[in-house]
Amino acid sequence: MRMAEKQLWSGRFAEGPSQMTLSFTSSLSVDTRLAWYDIVGSLAHARMLGATGMVLEHETELLVEGLKQLLAELEAGNLDLSPDLEDVHTNVEHMLTQRAGEAGKRLHTARSRNDQVSTDLRMFVRDAILETVSLLLDVRSEMIDLAERETETIMPGFTHLQHAQPVSLGFHLMAHVFRLQRDAERFLDAYKRLNQCPLGAGALAGTGHPVDRGLTAELLGFDRPTDNAMDTVSDRDFALEFAYDCAQTMVHLSSMGEELVLWTSPEFRFAEMPDAFATGSSIMPQKKNPDVAELVRGRSSVAVGNLMQLLVVMKGLPLSYNRDMQEDKASVFSSYETLTSCLFMVGPMYRELAFDRERMAKACADGFLNATDLADHLVQRGMPFREAHEVVGAVVQHCVKDGKRLESLSVEELKGFSDLLDQGSLDHVTLDACLHRRKSAGGTAPERVMEQISSARAVLDAHRSECEGELVRLEKVWKDLRE
Ligand code: ARG
Repeated sequence: MRMAEKQLWSGRFAEGPSQMTLSFTSSLSVDTRLAWYDIVGSLAHARMLGATGMVLEHETELLVEGLKQLLAELEAGNLDLSPDLEDVHTNVEHMLTQRAGEAGKRLHTARSRNDQVSTDLRMFVRDAILETVSLLLDVRSEMIDLAERETETIMPGFTHLQHAQPVSLGFHLMAHVFRLQRDAERFLDAYKRLNQCPLGAGALAGTGHPVDRGLTAELLGFDRPTDNAMDTVSDRDFALEFAYDCAQTMVHLSSMGEELVLWTSPEFRFAEMPDAFATGSSIMPQKKNPDVAELVRGRSSVAVGNLMQLLVVMKGLPLSYNRDMQEDKASVFSSYETLTSCLFMVGPMYRELAFDRERMAKACADGFLNATDLADHLVQRGMPFREAHEVVGAVVQHCVKDGKRLESLSVEELKGFSDLLDQGSLDHVTLDACLHRRKSAGGTAPERVMEQISSARAVLDAHRSECEGELVRLEKVWKDLRE
């Protein structure tokens, strides 16, 4: 069996690992993506080693310059990682030693790959959250603008996918906005919890070296160091939270996708899918399929699967670092890619959707959307609600039998069901009146939807400035670190 290159930990071994073991244990194909974070993390660590006197000044200088050079090479696309070295951390240290000479061998003082990998991944997730939240801002803003134009557009509201009560299209769209608003809140909340620096936790128990954990945390833009070294190297809650937040958001996008599939179907025809977001059939010349919406729905499975995968990796692991945890990264990256690629499509798709308002209004003719209002009307005239429900149920049954709508009944017919009913009752149940009447806080009446729109816009602005503020702060962190 062919033996591999010399590893970081070769001292303990009489022989190197077999090529088979090396390729089986390697994480390079996945964690190469962390190279930038690994180098900046190392840069902060090197500066801290210098500041605390663990590494002499001139050697610190060599480390810092070497790492900056690696960063520049990486950014220029010229950094080739060696497949013979098992992960990105090993590669970075190896390449540094090639450039900085003997000094490179001092970089790993007071550090373990266990605190290192957690630092790298936290920094990745931090950026991923900011990008996700800012894409969510775009989608929300698009949908709020759309909702604002549709506060008087009447359509059937559904429960169990059966006609329930009339709502406005604007109200319906705002329901999606508030879901996505909670998603953004969840991401930003996870951000606060993850923004603590693992460096200095070492392998699991801290270190006897005089590290300054506050300094590395600060240099990398973390709020502070983590509390307990053993927890630190064991903890992947931040990855799990991110995966959950992605899955939850994808479930919301999936529900939107499903709705668009329904709405653009010939049975509903509430909207026409823009050509740019549809595809055709290889056999049926007439087809225009809502594939983007279907794939958004379909890809939610990836995000949900990733969350399950991560949970199962972590379930049953004893403290502290276990190599199983190497399997965390692929899912985090995949959830990030799945969600961001869907978010890119969803906003423009809604913007270009052609709603068929007339068709929506016509659809309101069926299904007795105003039945609740007729019962409420009887209540206002003194009848207990349970009784009113019964009376209107009988009216509906009569209409179904005769193929009529509530509003097309004569006053005489109505009176047959209750003395309390008259012409005023018929005026009471026009769909427009039903929509405008729902003025309770959070209701579908246009003025209430306008309130929802301004509240959602205020939260949107707050999220935007939180996100932008954080991006500016991090930009300065990186600038200072690379000075
Ligand atoms: N490639 C490893 C991972 O992703 C890095 C940490 C390795 N630590 C160790 N003790 N072998 O988890």
